Amino acid sequence: MMKSFKNITALVTGASSGIGKALARELAAQGAHLVLVSRNTQRLEQEREDLKGRFGVSVHIFPEDLERLEDRLELFAWTQKSGITVDVLVNNAGVGHYGSFNETSFEDARAMLDLNVQALTHLTKLYLPGMLERKTGGILNVASTAGFQPLPYLAVYAATKAFVLNFSEALWAECKNSGVRIFCLCPGNTLTRFHQTAGIDRQRMFFSASATDVARFALRKFLRSSRPSAIYGFWNKLMIYAERLSPRRLTVFVTGLMYKSSKAGRRTTDGK
Ligand SMILES: NC(=O)c1ccc[n+]([C@@H]2O[C@H](COP(=O)([O-])OP(=O)(O)OC[C@H]3O[C@@H](n4cnc5c(N)ncnc54)[C@H](OP(=O)(O)O)[C@@H]3O)[C@@H](O)[C@H]2O)c1
Repeated sequence: MMKSFKNITALVTGASSGIGKALARELAAQGAHLVLVSRNTQRLEQEREDLKGRFGVSVHIFPEDLERLEDRLELFAWTQKSGITVDVLVNNAGVGHYGSFNETSFEDARAMLDLNVQALTHLTKLYLPGMLERKTGGILNVASTAGFQPLPYLAVYAATKAFVLNFSEALWAECKNSGVRIFCLCPGNTLTRFHQTAGIDRQRMFFSASATDVARFALRKFLRSSRPSAIYGFWNKLMIYAERLSPRRLTVFVTGLMYKSSKAGRRTTDGK
């Protein structure tokens, strides 16, 4: 199993903002070379210059829309052609859309399924065989505390994160003795652009963490823990354990009350 990130190459999706950006920075600080992926070219270029200047690591950027199958294949082909060995794949890019299922568009649901589920599964399918062949490396998937229970008004989002959690933990068992580390991070409420994009009023959310603290926690657990997944933060853990002991109907009722009036203004794509 990998002991440190020094001189490895990590591909981080959703690296232009929030948890992905913080993960990329922490990886660079620990000596990893990077491939940064997201849609926003300008933000990726800024990150590349900053990380190269501060940490002296090599940073490639690949602006693309991971919802699109062709873009994912293009990314894989480009890393192959460029001779870049992806030692660690960080499947972080994800999106949420708030609202009752009946009143939100299929386009919102499709975006969540394509990015949170399809892209994560597809990139894993593309990069895992090389890691297994080399008997080293790993995959860090970003799920959420939302993956532990149904969330009314974030029904599709929570279901995609349940997929990420279950898929990752099953893969962890399949890869356990292969030298390849599979790990699933489950953050709770974290201070990023996520809530604004999703249209959730963050004022109503509890226990906000910083993206940097979440990223440091994730990388520490990836290297040092042998567990398949970890929930960030004491209060988040307590909440999830309490839910496990509660009747499921009660859990859904309470989460429904929590999220019912959490609607906030949603920014447009231009405003990103
Ligand atoms: N923030 C929280 O409270 C929280 C809690 C639990 C779990 N999470 C999870 O943490 C992960 C990161 O979210 P975040 O909180 O850091 O949110 P964020 O600040 O909105 O970052 C999302 C990242 O994903 C990228 N992205 C979005 N759509 C994309 C697409 N189609 N193709 C490629 N990249 C795309 C965005 O970049 P571009 O816009 O440039 O493409 C951005 O870099 C997500 O999986 C989220 O579900 C967040």
